[in-house]
Order: sequence, then structure tokens, then C-alpha cells
Amino acid sequence: MEEERIFTSTVSEAEAEVENKLRPTTMNDYVGQTKVKENLSVFMAAAKKRGEALDHCLLYGPPGLGKTTLAHIIANEMGGQIKITSGPSIERAGDLAAILTNLADGDVLFIDEIHRLNRSVEEILYPAMEDFALDFIIGKGPSAKSVRLNLPRFTLIGATTRAGMLTSPLRDRFGVICRLEMYTTEELATIVSRSAKKLGTSISFAAACEIAKRSRGTPRIANRLLKRVRDFSEVSGQDEIGEEITRKALDLMEIDHLGLDNIDKQLLTALVKKFRGGPVGLDTLAAAINEDSNTIEDVYEPYLLQLGFIDRTPRGRCAMPAAYEHLGEKPPRPAPQQIRMDDT
Ligand SMILES: Nc1ncnc2c1ncn2[C@@H]1O[C@H](COP(=O)(O)OP(=O)(O)O)[C@@H](O)[C@H]1O
Ligand SMILES: [Mg+2]
Repeated sequence: MEEERIFTSTVSEAEAEVENKLRPTTMNDYVGQTKVKENLSVFMAAAKKRGEALDHCLLYGPPGLGKTTLAHIIANEMGGQIKITSGPSIERAGDLAAILTNLADGDVLFIDEIHRLNRSVEEILYPAMEDFALDFIIGKGPSAKSVRLNLPRFTLIGATTRAGMLTSPLRDRFGVICRLEMYTTEELATIVSRSAKKLGTSISFAAACEIAKRSRGTPRIANRLLKRVRDFSEVSGQDEIGEEITRKALDLMEIDHLGLDNIDKQLLTALVKKFRGGPVGLDTLAAAINEDSNTIEDVYEPYLLQLGFIDRTPRGRCAMPAAYEHLGEKPPRPAPQQIRMDDT
């Protein structure tokens, strides 16, 4: 069996169950993301006042930052049902048509990984989003007729880790576009403390902060680390999860004080040593450390970019001075300016 990894973009079934239990259900309990919450609250209040459905929303950001959670909260607060599906699971246009016709006024249709919808399915969405209608062609040849079927007033919430991969006709049909940010250590410590309570265990403030610091700005990772640390703490027979056992557990899991694991380190080392700081293309870098390039792009890079350890340039990935420092290497000096004395 493959060892369970902490940093992934996928969620196992068993974990999904725990995640549902840990999910906040109201905007008030949703920690952080102040700007997004403020905006959404205004739009939701306005829609309610007019007795309309909320505008379609696109939520984007790295995995584990709270997109699915937020979609549930929106449905909850708007008083509608949520229907959950994902881009890759809708294979044919007819599948989407069936989902759409089963919605009711005020429902939320949540499409995860919306950048992975196929083209023929996506085209059904355009009139559905814009006019709340489905267009059919009935018959063939000169007697073919176009028929329009009206749909309920629903809200589409799309989630994606790659906003750049959405086609522009689809992107343009979202009235609200929210980018989720990485969480601060304080916000993550709050999430860890609350999750501990929901799991029926207690944790000291210092221990919650220690987990928060090593969670890469990501609530899902914070919750994962909490569960692992709780196991260590239980085995050692303690009632409250303390700072010392937390440090020990995280060190054993080889997650350093910034939240970097072995793959981060391999990636940075390859970038700095093998490719002399870059620029190097994503696929080449991925092949060098034998890792999947999508995993690197979705899971590893966002945090390394946030730390200022790497940079994405049109010619490839580059190591920044902070990465050299973290590895204990000397950053290269910038190429000296050539001064030519013989020219006038
Ligand atoms: N703002 C938040 N406040 C509290 N917990 C959160 C928040 N955002 C996410 N979480 C927790 O993190 C986990 C992953 O969130 P999720 O919404 O599934 O992420 P995404 O859909 O962006 O991958 C959930 O179990 C949830 O409990
Ligand atoms: Mg999700």
C-alpha cells in the first residue's frame, strides 16, 4: 500500500467523511477570506431582497482552501438545495441536461473542476447560465426545429484550481469571480482549535499554532496534520495535545518549520543544483524528481510561490534567493554588467 500522503489534491472516501464533519456550515463560522465573504454577503443580501437567485459564482484557488465548503454555505444561506457534480464526471451533453432539468428555483448547482468540462457539455451551459434555458434541435434536415425549454432560476457555482484554463465564453458568464487566498497562521490556528473540538479532543493554543505554521496556508492540510498529531498524542497517553508532542510528530513526518516536505525539498534542490536555478520547464522539472507535473502545479507550486522561493516566468521556473537560503546554499551573484571602456 502506498503511504498516505499529506499534500495531495485528492481526498479519499474515508477522509471526505471527516471533512464533512469539520466543514463550517455558516458564513460566520467560515474563517478568514474576509474580502470574499464581504462581497458574497452583499450579493446574497441583494439577491434575497429582489427575490432572485444569486448570480453564478466562480471560486478559484489551490486545493483545500475552502471552495466546496463555501459552495455549501452559499446554498445554505440562500435557502436552496445543493446538487454536486464535477467537470470530468459529466460525459455527455444529455447528462448535464438531465441535471439541469431536475433543479428547482433557488438551487445551487456546484460543478467542481469546472475547467475539465468537455466542449459539447460546456455549450449547453451557456444558454442555461444566461437565459435559464435549454436549446434542442428536433428532427433532421429541412424540417428540423429548434425548441427552447425553460429552466428554473438556479445558481451555478464553479470551482477550479486553474482559472486560466477556463474558456473565455464560460468565464464571462459568471457574475461573481472569487479568488481564495492562503490563510494566515492565526486563521489556521483558529481552524485547528475548532476542528479539535469537533473531533472531541483538546489542543493547547501553542500546539494549534505549531500545526498552523506548518500547514502551507491550507485548512485541509491543517486538519490532516491535526489528525496525525492527535494519534501520536493519544498513543503517548496525553489528555491534551501539547506543543512538544506536536513538534515531535511533525518532525517525524518530515514536515519542516515552514511546512515543506521531502518533495518540496527535492524540487528546490533539483531547481537549484541540477538546473542551476532555472529557468526550467515544468515537465522537465517534474521528470527530474519523478513526480506528476499536475501535482506539482496544483499542490506544491502555489505555496512555494507564496513563500517567494520560486518564480514562474514565460521561459520556465526559477529559484529565488530565499530558496537558496532555505537549502543552505549561496545564491549566485547576478551577472556583472559589462562595461566596455574602449567604446565612446
Ligand atoms: N474558511 C474555512 N474555515 C474553516 N474550515 C475550513 C475553511 N475552508 C476550508 N476548511 C476546511 O478545510 C477542508 C477542505 O475544504 P474544501 O472546501 O473541501 O476545499 P476545496 O474545495 O477548496 O478543495 C474542509 O474540511 C473544511 O472543514
Ligand atoms: Mg473541493
